[in-house]
Amino acid sequence: MGNERSIQMFRGEVFRDDREKLNGHRSAVFWFTGLSGSGKSTIAHAVEKELFDCSLYAYVFDGDNVRHGLCGDLSFSSAARMENIRRIAEVSRLFVENGTICMCAFIAPVAKYRQIARDIIGGKDYYEIFVTCPLELCEKRDVKGFYKMAREGKIKNYTGISAPYEVPENPDLVVDTEQESLAESVAKVKKFILGKVEL
Ligand SMILES: Nc1ncnc2c1ncn2[C@@H]1O[C@H](COP(=O)(O)OP(=O)(O)O)[C@@H](O)[C@H]1O
Ligand SMILES: [Mg+2]
Repeated sequence: MGNERSIQMFRGEVFRDDREKLNGHRSAVFWFTGLSGSGKSTIAHAVEKELFDCSLYAYVFDGDNVRHGLCGDLSFSSAARMENIRRIAEVSRLFVENGTICMCAFIAPVAKYRQIARDIIGGKDYYEIFVTCPLELCEKRDVKGFYKMAREGKIKNYTGISAPYEVPENPDLVVDTEQESLAESVAKVKKFILGKVEL
């Protein structure tokens, strides 16, 4: 490296617990993992709205959105997917310091990527929500039309079709969007989050 001496941390005077007290709730990261079309974005944004309406500070990091900016330079190779997750984990860690309830809606298809996020964020602030839905139904929903393109070979490395999805072994919460209505999934996630962010 050679430039370690120039990189130092400045310690401010306002700390995470001060912000949490001001907000009236803890901060943490709730990581939604699941196939494309399983319902991560839909649920996370609906919960965000409900938490906001209850005066809680919540923010959704959405895989689709960050790829336009922060991670706009990254491809979908496995190294780039890992870098995508690393950046989001680092940014959400900053948001946790800021007292924010973060909901990260990213496929994060490989256990190793999720472990990277957990390590960066810290185990006590990281909760994994597995949004499960059979591939056939995700493909039927085909919200973005990408499954069709992946089947036709027009998109490479598409999770579930030409790239693996490793089912989480120990998620903190599972929502099954084949069995549950959207309202049920949202209520379940909201209740889970409220239980974890209580001061
Ligand atoms: N219980 C449910 N929870 C979430 N989404 C559901 C549910 N049931 C049906 N859906 C539908 O499934 C689709 C999920 O799409 P999206 O949220 O974009 O998925 P992802 O972000 O995981 O790729 C939406 O069209 C949504 O309306
Ligand atoms: Mg999404």
